[in-house]
Amino acid sequence: MKISIIGCGYVGLVTGACLAELGHEVLGVDNDLEKVRILQSGGVPIYEPGLETLVGTHRQEGRLKFSSEIREAVEHGQIIFICVNTPPKPDGGVDLSFVEAVSREIARHMTAYRLVVEKSTVPVQTGDWVRRTISENIRPGVEFDVASNPEFLREGTGIRDFLHPDRVVIGASSERATSLLVSLYEPLNAPLLLTDIKSAELIKHSANAFLAVKISFINAVARVCSLSGADIKKVAKGIGLDHRIGMASMEAGIGYGGMCLPKDVKAFIQIAREVGYDFELLEATERINASQRLWPVQVLQQTLGEPLRTRKVAILGLSFKPNTDDLRSAASLDIIAALQAEGARVRAYDPIAMERALKKVPETTMCQDPYQAARDAEALVICTEWQEFRHLDLPRLREEMARPLVVDGRNLFEPARMAELGFEYRCVGRPILPASPRSRTASAT
Ligand SMILES: NC(=O)c1ccc[n+]([C@@H]2O[C@H](COP(=O)([O-])OP(=O)(O)OC[C@H]3O[C@@H](n4cnc5c(N)ncnc54)[C@H](O)[C@@H]3O)[C@@H](O)[C@H]2O)c1
Repeated sequence: MKISIIGCGYVGLVTGACLAELGHEVLGVDNDLEKVRILQSGGVPIYEPGLETLVGTHRQEGRLKFSSEIREAVEHGQIIFICVNTPPKPDGGVDLSFVEAVSREIARHMTAYRLVVEKSTVPVQTGDWVRRTISENIRPGVEFDVASNPEFLREGTGIRDFLHPDRVVIGASSERATSLLVSLYEPLNAPLLLTDIKSAELIKHSANAFLAVKISFINAVARVCSLSGADIKKVAKGIGLDHRIGMASMEAGIGYGGMCLPKDVKAFIQIAREVGYDFELLEATERINASQRLWPVQVLQQTLGEPLRTRKVAILGLSFKPNTDDLRSAASLDIIAALQAEGARVRAYDPIAMERALKKVPETTMCQDPYQAARDAEALVICTEWQEFRHLDLPRLREEMARPLVVDGRNLFEPARMAELGFEYRCVGRPILPASPRSRTASAT
């Protein structure tokens, strides 16, 4: 089938490349001319594992092309996916101006039937509004459908998530639209959930809100563990093994970040308010998350003393999660800003995201590896659970540090082992064990 994708960001590019992988002819369109230039010359403007190879292969075989012209997208694809960004407005609602602009332009160029699909995350009832927008701008007599096909891929595992989804949600209001999308996704052999458009839209916000609730719940339990001497790893396992609850998203840490959960929770609160419901559960979820993100700063203030002026702090991990260069709502940035506001000197290391991060926290010294970041540091904070951090040479790391204080926002290590190695180890919701006397702590402080 001929498919057009409008918006070649994390979702649009993965969607386009994966649909090409399924054998479809895909045209990706973006209004960021630099992005299009990179894509047309064989590069990929974002980091997503496997994406460069997939895009390269299908571009060379002619199944994946790029343009900056929406007119070409409308001419090319019988199905047009809208994958543009839907950023938050100051009141927490969703800024739909990009969706609106694209819908208008699609309508203006349409000369024959097209199926316009919302893949961007949009509030319930947006489908009606997109349909109205297109109707007001289209030539008389041209038929079209609008459908909702929310995307559930996660950055870092985007290709696998797209090609092996738990489910594909198709919200459509006509037989024609439903059957086009069903045949598009048929090769995936995935469970298909056919719904009306509003339910499909609401499924996406509800799914992200529920994940956020789960994360804040386990983080709140971790706080109780810290105060009572229980161990969150054991508690999470004990409750997660109950199949009604499940183990996924049950790792305590420094909360959720990224492009989706923070904005989608905020949006869902606002959407619920607009239809007359006060979603207090989500307001509490947000509050817990906000405080959890700055927990490492509190630990440093308590341990090193306030203010943190001239303290040397190392940060490991900048991206909001591993295997991506995405820094949107990354906890690391809030932590660095809070530390620097108190006058701390921050050195950081991330396998992928340092170049992007430097634009956001320019006062930070970016380092070649974790050991260089840790050199002479009085504390080290782990913000992202990159796989390579699990395999650090811990004795070497301890030797590099002026004070072997590790604040682990992702619970990567066993407290007993860290204490044995001489670290003052603070993690989320697990017991604090005294560092072994072999530690350099006494001489360094
Ligand atoms: N990132 C994720 O993990 C993820 C997962 C599921 C759903 N979503 C949702 O998908 C949507 C896109 O997210 P993203 O992370 O890919 O965003 P993104 O910012 O990475 O990409 C959006 C792209 O749309 C382009 N764009 C904006 N206006 C345009 C226009 N008028 N014409 C052409 N291109 C235009 C931008 O230049 C950008 O390249 C959002 O609604 C998001 O909530 C994101």
